[in-house]
Amino acid sequence: MIKKAIILAGGMGTRLSPLTKAVNKQLLPVYDKPLIYYPLSILMLAKIKKILIIVNKGQLYQYKKLIPNGRNLGIEINYLEQEKPVGLPDAFILGKNFIGKDKIAMILGDNFFYGQGLSEKLKSCTKLKKGAKIILHKVPKPESFGIAKINKKNRILNIVEKPKKKISNFAITGLYFFDNKVVEYSKKLKPSTRGELEITDLLKKYLKNKNLKAEFIGRGGAWLDTGSIDDFYKTSMFVHAIENRQGVKIACLEEISLLNNWIGKKEIMSQIKFYGNCEYSSYLKKLLK
Ligand code: G1P
Repeated sequence: MIKKAIILAGGMGTRLSPLTKAVNKQLLPVYDKPLIYYPLSILMLAKIKKILIIVNKGQLYQYKKLIPNGRNLGIEINYLEQEKPVGLPDAFILGKNFIGKDKIAMILGDNFFYGQGLSEKLKSCTKLKKGAKIILHKVPKPESFGIAKINKKNRILNIVEKPKKKISNFAITGLYFFDNKVVEYSKKLKPSTRGELEITDLLKKYLKNKNLKAEFIGRGGAWLDTGSIDDFYKTSMFVHAIENRQGVKIACLEEISLLNNWIGKKEIMSQIKFYGNCEYSSYLKKLLK
């Protein structure tokens, strides 16, 4: 069972400047809550309670104001600062003490997932025994993502980071499940031509050893990423549409924890006090009934 995960929330968010000049990208709003709530909710839906959030150097205090330690959410939050963003696999090198001898999941702090049956799929991914598992989703513009070519039996044949020539429409989303070899493999990686350690190079090591499997979100699900200002706006509109139509919140951390039986009324009440008088608190009050 995978019981630990890393949220990589580093990066300078340069493409979103001036929004990100003073505030970390993952703390910017996606409709009614900070972006980081969404990937964190995904881990909680996968029943992962032990989480390491890797943030930019100098931005730790911003996070601690929002999520000091996770106790009121029924989870354990640890933090690490990253000197500078040098690629996604750096998370496993930085987080090696946190990982220890265990398996590990990782989600990128700017990835948004939503869909029917998602929780069940996530829980099945945490049952990984050996190797690695990636989550694929069809996209119209494969040149913007890490892409996997698969055969009819859903076996992965090849992986390319931001391919110039189309090999497939299946994007590798920013949610990964790894066995403990991930630390050793990451340490052996060399920077790519853009000067970063690439997650696709790491995945290729698993592929070479025939130890890489794919799971699919499917057409009933959504995967949105928040790389540009436009993406932020569109993701906010998506959350707005669903929440206002259905009267339920996406990624309400306290609600997920309550449903997981990790917290009770006491913790919800202290979260209401913590957030103060706001619409999010009114929603939490309804959970108490
Ligand atoms: C990164 C990964 C890419 C993956 C994407 C998912 O890209 O390198 O393989 O498909 O995240 O969000 P980046 O966001 O760094 O462009």
